[in-house]
Amino acid sequence: MIIAIDGPAASGKGTLARRLAERYRLKHLDSGVLYRAVAQRMIDLGLDLADPAAAAKAAREIDPARFDDPALRSRRTGEGASIVSAVPEVRAALLDFQRRFAAEPPGAVIDGRDIGTVICPDADVKLFVIASPEERARRRALELTRAGEPVDEAAILLDIRARDERDMNRATAPLKPAEDAIRIDTTTLDADAAFDAAVSIIERRMAERPAGADAAL
Ligand code: CDP
Ligand code: CDP
Repeated sequence: MIIAIDGPAASGKGTLARRLAERYRLKHLDSGVLYRAVAQRMIDLGLDLADPAAAAKAAREIDPARFDDPALRSRRTGEGASIVSAVPEVRAALLDFQRRFAAEPPGAVIDGRDIGTVICPDADVKLFVIASPEERARRRALELTRAGEPVDEAAILLDIRARDERDMNRATAPLKPAEDAIRIDTTTLDADAAFDAAVSIIERRMAERPAGADAAL
């Protein structure tokens, strides 16, 4: 069973993906970490994030199986990830790892931007998680406050809008819902309510499948 979850920054897709993986005993991959690792490697080596050839090289050099570095969560790395992720060779270098991760038993929940459209077009369930930019900025600000970091919510909102722009308008694998994706708007839903909404969509989808098709569950 493969569940593909796409959506913009801070829409709540990561939280949802983790909880669904637990619920259905599947592996979880936050695919954003792969692009963050590429950006982080370039930052560490002092390379220009806007250089596509350097980004492609960095993407081939990272070890996708090692993605637990807390430095990857920083705002700068997220911004860098959204720059390098527009390079087609970077996306190509990370494709195999994601497809293999999805194909291994017992199946996976993968969240990102192009999981339902490019990485796993045959996923059993595709969710597209959205929330208003203002609500997403508020969530990011809250996370920073909790981490004891200074917060400028207006600057965060600008970052979020810039990242949406870049992710939705790039030529290769832009952020957009797959034709068969089901939307969940979490603007007014907390993590519990979003989880409940997703579970009922998944259960409905599973019930619709032909008999025997869900043996993997
Ligand atoms: O957690 P957040 O949504 O802020 O970011 P992320 O999921 O870690 O992704 C960081 C950046 O990587 C995004 O802005 C995208 O540009 C890129 N990304 C992508 O292009 N494709 C994916 N499947 C996942 C992330
Ligand atoms: O993975 P993505 O960037 O889409 O978002 P996330 O990391 O799952 O969620 C961003 C923040 O919003 C986290 O602090 C979550 O706890 C919070 N959140 C929320 O307030 N309401 C939801 N329905 C989902 C997440």
